[in-house]
Amino acid sequence: MRIIFLKGANMRFIKRIINFIFRQFKQIERKKEIKKTAPRIEKTNLIDDLRALGLKRGDIVLFHSSLKSIGYVVGGARTVIEAILEVISPDGTLMIPTYSSNSMLKTCLNKDYCFDPRETDTVLGKIPSTFLKMPNIHRSIHPTHSVAAIGKYAQYLTEAHHFALSTFGYNSPWERLMKLDGKMMGIGVTLWPVPIYHVLEDMMSDKFPLPVRMKETYMVKCRDWFNKLIEVPVTPLDPKYKKIRIDNENRQDLRTYMWKEYIHAGIVKTGKVGAATGWITSINKFYDHLILLMREGITIYSTPEELKKRPIW
Ligand SMILES: CC(C)(COP(=O)(O)OP(=O)(O)OC[C@H]1O[C@@H](n2cnc3c(N)ncnc32)[C@H](O)[C@@H]1OP(=O)(O)O)[C@@H](O)C(=O)NCCC(=O)NCCS
Repeated sequence: MRIIFLKGANMRFIKRIINFIFRQFKQIERKKEIKKTAPRIEKTNLIDDLRALGLKRGDIVLFHSSLKSIGYVVGGARTVIEAILEVISPDGTLMIPTYSSNSMLKTCLNKDYCFDPRETDTVLGKIPSTFLKMPNIHRSIHPTHSVAAIGKYAQYLTEAHHFALSTFGYNSPWERLMKLDGKMMGIGVTLWPVPIYHVLEDMMSDKFPLPVRMKETYMVKCRDWFNKLIEVPVTPLDPKYKKIRIDNENRQDLRTYMWKEYIHAGIVKTGKVGAATGWITSINKFYDHLILLMREGITIYSTPEELKKRPIW
């Protein structure tokens, strides 16, 4: 029996190694392809483009990204991060989401799961996962939606997330970013993968037009920075609203609506960063406009009919 178990475990281990080598090989081939076909972008190009977009010394900025949209970036994800840090200088702060889950509910139901800010990787792509490996990083303790930051206000932004009563509400990194009058910036992504919409839901609580949170709150295991086991409350987004929410890929109509609306309102500024479209905005102006939209019947759950009732122009 024991021999069979060892054989099974060995087989799984070998399979994992083969998969790992295969993935590495595929990544190298993809990188070669991008190098051949995409425009070559250096750190100095990025610095110039970021400044032209409106990023400044001392800015406190939340950043969302797609690396491959920028072109072939010499030095990869690290170059993008270093370019931003150089523009904002040590007086500024860079915050990047480093979520570790694609499903709040599944993570909450997984009894074996334990978030560790030192070990748990992110599911949000190459730039966030590279950011996590940088020195002087601060990472918030949250089972599904942790964020990381470097710079003057990094500790303030991240230190209270596990004490916050809701994931995106009071004392969350986003609410603190609003207190600091920070900015949000995206490169190669539009306005759909941004958590500010959920900040509105958590801040409005029962006054939000739809009951988008589940009724149950789960206590999920985490390690804190002292390696102590703690439990953090998570009230998952109700999966039944996922079909109509802006992050569902079938909701291109809603994604386009928000993009056009924010450009038209003059709240989001756009520009080229490498080969990608970049955007930048004040988090508070973005949030205030979300409240206005909500009062006029528009949220990230609005149906096509509801969008038609409030045309942009
Ligand atoms: C999902 C998402 C990350 C995908 O973007 P992406 O550019 O395909 O992926 P990454 O940023 O992880 O970068 C990896 C890609 O860069 C490529 N790459 C590797 N080295 C590179 C280099 N030096 N220069 C350019 N591209 C490179 C990789 O080959 C890979 O592309 P492939 O998957 O086609 O092979 C992006 O669309 C997104 O949604 N970003 C927002 C994340 C976020 O902040 N979410 C918050 C949710 S509220």
